Amino acid sequence: MLRKLLTASAASLLAVSPALAQDGLKPTGRWTAPRMGAAATPPMGWNAWNAFRTEVDEAKVMGSAQALRDTGLARLGYRYVNLDDGWWLQRRTSDGRLQIRTALFPSATPKDGGEASFKPFVDRLHAMGFKAGIYTDVGRNACSQAWDLKSPNLPVGTVQEREVGLEGHVDQDIGLFFGEWGFDYVKVDACGLADYAPGSAVVAKNGYRPSDPLIVRKDPAADRSQAVRDLYVEVGQSIARHSPDGDYVFSICTWGRGDVRAWGGQVGNLWRTSPDIGSRWSSMLRSFDSVATRTLYARPGAWNDPDMLFIGAGDFDQTHLTEARSHFTLWAMANAPLLIGYDLRDAPRSLLDIWGNADLIAINQDPLGNQAALAAHEGDVQILVKTLSGGRTAVALFNRGDKPAGAALTSQHLRLAADVPIALRDLWSKADLPPFKGERRFELGPHETLVFETRATASAGSVLLSEMPARIHVAQEPTWAPPADGFDGPADAAGRPGGAQIDASPYRTPLTVAGRTIPHGVGLLADSRLEVRAEAEFKRFSVRVGVDDASPSALGEVRFLVYGDGRLLARSKPLRRGQPPVDLTARVQGVQTLELVAVAHGEGPPPAVAWGAAKLAR
Ligand code: GLA
Repeated sequence: MLRKLLTASAASLLAVSPALAQDGLKPTGRWTAPRMGAAATPPMGWNAWNAFRTEVDEAKVMGSAQALRDTGLARLGYRYVNLDDGWWLQRRTSDGRLQIRTALFPSATPKDGGEASFKPFVDRLHAMGFKAGIYTDVGRNACSQAWDLKSPNLPVGTVQEREVGLEGHVDQDIGLFFGEWGFDYVKVDACGLADYAPGSAVVAKNGYRPSDPLIVRKDPAADRSQAVRDLYVEVGQSIARHSPDGDYVFSICTWGRGDVRAWGGQVGNLWRTSPDIGSRWSSMLRSFDSVATRTLYARPGAWNDPDMLFIGAGDFDQTHLTEARSHFTLWAMANAPLLIGYDLRDAPRSLLDIWGNADLIAINQDPLGNQAALAAHEGDVQILVKTLSGGRTAVALFNRGDKPAGAALTSQHLRLAADVPIALRDLWSKADLPPFKGERRFELGPHETLVFETRATASAGSVLLSEMPARIHVAQEPTWAPPADGFDGPADAAGRPGGAQIDASPYRTPLTVAGRTIPHGVGLLADSRLEVRAEAEFKRFSVRVGVDDASPSALGEVRFLVYGDGRLLARSKPLRRGQPPVDLTARVQGVQTLELVAVAHGEGPPPAVAWGAAKLAR
């Protein structure tokens, strides 16, 4: 509709039609990504699930909290102590109030004829210096009620009494969690929207009330994403109301489903991007892959969540420290939440040293909030680069495979000129490596990750957009169009590629326009709008734009527009696939928000576009 409208009327791109506004391509003149809750950096702490599943109890939780203190992990930032599934007994039908399984949580036992309450439990955690987290489901029933049927701690009672999820009780339950009990964090799962279909075995066997799934396990394309989103929006609004000081974390758990990648960051503080992590290497890889190319969707207050740490179990136990270190390094680089899932009452030094690597924690908690971008992926080796505060950069070299692998780190990976000396400090061994220029080779053991910090910088005078992902908001993009030759790159839980990319096309090919590779920049589909927080720090913006050779069709034309605080600063002529890139520059003195809009005209799926070498100069 938009594309037709523009071709038909050759509308001036300054006069914005209502259709443009609707499609979200109209410049807003400001940064519109919301900021809510208390997740300026990725949440850190402990969660009961990976250690205990539903066999959780107060002694286990408090013991692990005490251990966080005694081991010094609390001082390093592990501050949330979170319950997961298993805490509830039932919902009282007379008034809908949730009842706690006090046999597991004795401090919640009603006193003097009062109500069962988690307040004493939460107060104790608070007194120990922690924040407290609780768990619920956005539907009527929870995950354990479908997936852990052998659990001794499932909700009990009539069909209605066992409906412990939020449906129909959002404000009541959130008020109970945040207002009355004093929790600071809630993880809101989604099995209630997925696993209770009419006629399903679980419903028949357990007598649950059936509901038509909004998340269709076997068919992501059938997810009713807008309805899923609406439910989470309602929860988020309720949390904000019941947490007037804003000191809350809202964790969305739809395992990458319901198109959460498009809305998670507008609604909550973190959103799961993959199915549950297990203690196998392949499972960790699947979780990591679900966030590795989602760099542009995270920022302070809003984080991709590849799930909790599984360090200490299976392929990550104390006999697999290489794997455990890799898992931790990847989570640190990806700005994933660092939630320990281990019974800390009995943790070996070797594992404590991993969770306690202060250098890696600092990388994860860096105040700029830039998630690492994937700079290279060749064979089994991936190179991840994360821009830190203070002119520092972290780089990780990761061997996914079970054989040794060589890796070459180049100045280009670090976005540096070939003559800049690069000094690296190894954040596991703490060794300083002698400076090199251009390229240095490393040997990685099976499953090994090397991670370094460097102070080498290009020039203080300018910054590439690629180096400031947390200051870029993908405000509008089309749902994806498959490329001409099919797609076998990294995909999300719904089988789609990663959306907007740093230093790559949306199909993860190098940014390439008319046969010319542009090493850095942002790649995404046209009919998109990016907001960039410039904050009046810069004088000049320059960019090399064009339609990426990876575009699915040669039919469409794209016009590139650059706005500063809502004013058009530069625009390209319409460009087609195969046409050479065009350089645009704009004066941006005093500009708070820069907007980069790519508007497609003509037929066919939206082309992939390159905002190449995009750079802000001071
Ligand atoms: C789902 C979630 C897990 C965990 C379990 C609890 O599977 O994804 O993280 O919370 O439910 O039942």
